Amino acid sequence: MSALSERPENPSVGVAVPHESAKLHVTGAALYTDDLIHRTKDVLHAHPVQVPYAHARVTALDVTPALRVPGVVRVLTAADVPGVNDAGVKHDEPLFPDEVMFFGHAVCWVLADTFEAARLGADAVEVGVEPLPSHVTLREAIAAESFQGATPQILRGDVEAGLADAVHVFSGEFEFAGQEHFYLETHCSLAHVDEAGQIFVQSSTQHPTETQEIVAHVLGRPSHEVTVQCLRMGGGFGGKEMQPHGFAAVAALGATLTGRPVRVRLTRTQDLTMSGKRHGFHVDWRVGFDDAGRLQALDATLTADGGWSLDLSEPVLARALCHTDNAYWLPHARLTGRIARTHKTSSTAFRGFGGPQGMLVIEDILGRCAPLLGIDPAELRRRNFYQAGQSTPYGQPVRHPERLHRLWEQVLDSGAIPARQREIDAFNAGHPYTKRGLAVTPVKFGISFNLTAFNQAGALVHVYKDGSVLINHGGTEMGQGLHTKMLQVAATTLGLPLERVRLAPTRTDKVPNTSATAASSGADLNGGAVKHACEQIRERLAQVAATMLGVNAADVRIADGIARGIGADAGVVWNDLVRAAYFQRVQLFAAGFYRTEGLHWDSSVMQGSPFKYFAYGVAAAEVEVDGFTGAYRTRRVDIVHDVGDSLSPLIDIGQIEGGFVQGAGWLTLEDLRWDTGDGAARGRLSTQAASTYKLPSFSEMPEVFNVTLLTDAAEEGVVYGSKAVGEPPLMLAFCVREALRQAAAAFGPAGVSIELASPATPEAVFWAIERARAGAGDSTVAEADVAPPQPGAGSHAMRPESEQVGQAVSRA
Ligand code: MTE
Ligand code: MOS
Repeated sequence: MSALSERPENPSVGVAVPHESAKLHVTGAALYTDDLIHRTKDVLHAHPVQVPYAHARVTALDVTPALRVPGVVRVLTAADVPGVNDAGVKHDEPLFPDEVMFFGHAVCWVLADTFEAARLGADAVEVGVEPLPSHVTLREAIAAESFQGATPQILRGDVEAGLADAVHVFSGEFEFAGQEHFYLETHCSLAHVDEAGQIFVQSSTQHPTETQEIVAHVLGRPSHEVTVQCLRMGGGFGGKEMQPHGFAAVAALGATLTGRPVRVRLTRTQDLTMSGKRHGFHVDWRVGFDDAGRLQALDATLTADGGWSLDLSEPVLARALCHTDNAYWLPHARLTGRIARTHKTSSTAFRGFGGPQGMLVIEDILGRCAPLLGIDPAELRRRNFYQAGQSTPYGQPVRHPERLHRLWEQVLDSGAIPARQREIDAFNAGHPYTKRGLAVTPVKFGISFNLTAFNQAGALVHVYKDGSVLINHGGTEMGQGLHTKMLQVAATTLGLPLERVRLAPTRTDKVPNTSATAASSGADLNGGAVKHACEQIRERLAQVAATMLGVNAADVRIADGIARGIGADAGVVWNDLVRAAYFQRVQLFAAGFYRTEGLHWDSSVMQGSPFKYFAYGVAAAEVEVDGFTGAYRTRRVDIVHDVGDSLSPLIDIGQIEGGFVQGAGWLTLEDLRWDTGDGAARGRLSTQAASTYKLPSFSEMPEVFNVTLLTDAAEEGVVYGSKAVGEPPLMLAFCVREALRQAAAAFGPAGVSIELASPATPEAVFWAIERARAGAGDSTVAEADVAPPQPGAGSHAMRPESEQVGQAVSRA
């Protein structure tokens, strides 16, 4: 084990401690950005002027009526921007636009003494527009060839030859929905200006450095005049990786122009109608299998619904393409990506960052093709798992594929899957109106930012004269438990009990040039940096202790707050050691830095080894579906997930449970709808409140929910042998969707491919059942253009059931 991965004896990491703010969260004492306004004098409240057109040119803007509203102090418009009028990094997101690009786009902001006055002021602003044609749906944009950004492609082998050699060739189409983040805390920023004109922005942001940079460029100031602090977020889920910047810039601009603190906090409906969501995708695919059901070739074109601007769509698309293989070996692959421009909010990062979308493609293909191949879907999946020595279509060797097999066996075993499958078959045979389904699906998710440069982090650790320790790092806390893990890492490295270490809020003037807390890499990167800082202090203290104890510095160990020579009883307690070090003028603070080694990625050819390692997991779900309504419930879920050697087991289990439920929400409940008609509301988000957007709640939790961490899984080359956990578990939820597909199929004859919409809402499941009952199956899986070598093979969708069964039998 490397020094980075190795754990000392009796470490603080690996102990099941509660989230560092758990008590504050549940008692309501935890401070979020907006709570600060009650502690701040003379705050101005900002309200957007949202224009109700999907696409329009702004022809006139009259703010004077707003200024007559009592309490209104100022209206911010493009003319006020001293720097660059842009809220993004691609320079395609004007902060104060003269073209409305989606229904509800804000063209200016009203500042007032109260939120109500600001709202009335915003109502009074007169905006003249000339409506323009719009593309609201992804299909409309594709038909109009409305695209933006790069069109990357991953190529391996010869797809046409692979398809020509395949025994079974299928093709199809799949369109699936995005997802609203629905973090409990909506977007929020509070900006101050001090006596020297320095800007201090408190923001609910996953990316304080980029928020700082955008505020600076909007104001036309250098970065050192802007400080961004994030206390904590009430959830981010990727929605606060890029989207907070513009709101922070509005607050900062208002504060510089009025000299008063300015608060921007979106109401829930503003947040839903103005901020970006997960990308929905459209996919065209062709796939070839050999006679044993092994994947031979995949040709797929993935079109992401980017919304009105690029935002993070290019890296999201790259991650989607890098995850279309999921856990499966694809000898020949051609994976093409495009980003459509639609007149909707700009799609952005969301837990998994395109990975879930790429993986959903192959899971959907396997789920749809299994009946046509006459192979049990779970067996089809297992048969295609990566084996040792194989690499991904983008050329990265797949390390530890045996973990997939180990996880799979463990879920089959602990979930008693074979026995329960027999019970389900018996249940289904005896229940014409209710059917059950049981599915098992794997996850392989690459950890690191694709863009190599982002894989760096910093930390600052202070030991005060009284022996207390204060740490700062570049990562933000959004509920995922990063701060808890960083406290455990610091305590472990310094050899102190956990309670001796305190953590201060994330600020750009403490740790500069940070990456977003994203890509699940927060603990890997910042943990490396915290450890590095603590090691420097520990080395210096070891020298001091060596002299005091009369031993060699290399033989000093600090554990439980006592420094001792190896094997010796006598020791120096931490506080005495620190005091002695201070009087010897030994530096008691240190900056730490970490960069992930061994990564390379060439985005121009989409080849390389962009990921430090893969996180693995396997999940099984059992569902029960009502044949009259399509309503369903999740009876049981069994998960075994690989977090390496866990830094904090309670946190990790929470992340797995939460990620799974959020994934199940995306795939089965959460249904974003826009008005796609030609009327005045064209482009309006219809689901703009919790009353119309169904989130998972207690009633949708699996009735039995078993989550286990893989054991003996220490990961070499990562802080204390751990693995990232934030995003991968979301994709464990594929098993719920596949179980629903199988339950729907059970209403009809065997061997029929079942198409299931995503989200698989009860309504969607109902229609899948109807198709199954009619034996009609899947309308899109059909014989591909490529003629397979065996005559007749590949047109299984059209074949009678008897032949399907015969085919399965002949292979057994
Ligand atoms: N967990 C909670 N409770 N709240 C969140 O907002 N965000 C997720 C995940 N888990 C999130 C969460 C996302 S999108 C990411 S990338 C990771 O946490 C980020 O944190 P990490 O890098 O520290 O895992
Ligand atoms: Mo997470 S989508 O990488 O913020």
